[in-house]
Amino acid sequence: MSKLVRFGISLEKGLLDKFDSVIKKKNCPNRSEAFRDLIRKELVSEEWQRQGEIAGAITLVYNHHKRDLLNKLADIEHDFQKVIISNQHIHLDHDNCLEIVAVKGSPQKVQKLADMVKSVKGVKCATLSMASTGKNLE
Ligand code: NI
Repeated sequence: MSKLVRFGISLEKGLLDKFDSVIKKKNCPNRSEAFRDLIRKELVSEEWQRQGEIAGAITLVYNHHKRDLLNKLADIEHDFQKVIISNQHIHLDHDNCLEIVAVKGSPQKVQKLADMVKSVKGVKCATLSMASTGKNLE
């Protein structure tokens, strides 16, 4: 674990009051933890902007009866097998499926995969959760 460093921050009282109110709603234990969260969020966002390695998940909801949908998704996912590390399929009801695709690798490739599966006809909802491998967050 890294050495702890203390530092002071100057900011407008109004801004701090708003921040305190937000962290209270989120049940954050203290300002230090809230600032750590903000810094990590910024670092993760920065990881997605460059050529490093990221991790995340693509969540899809689709009607599996839709013609050719499963074939198209499988074709795309086979083309991106280097970044797909796991895939979970849940049958939500008679028609709808939830698929969670865990990804790790180049942010550009993962974004491309997310864009491609999102554009398949019959995909009702697709979200990309931009997470991190965690290596650069300490
Ligand atoms: Ni299903």
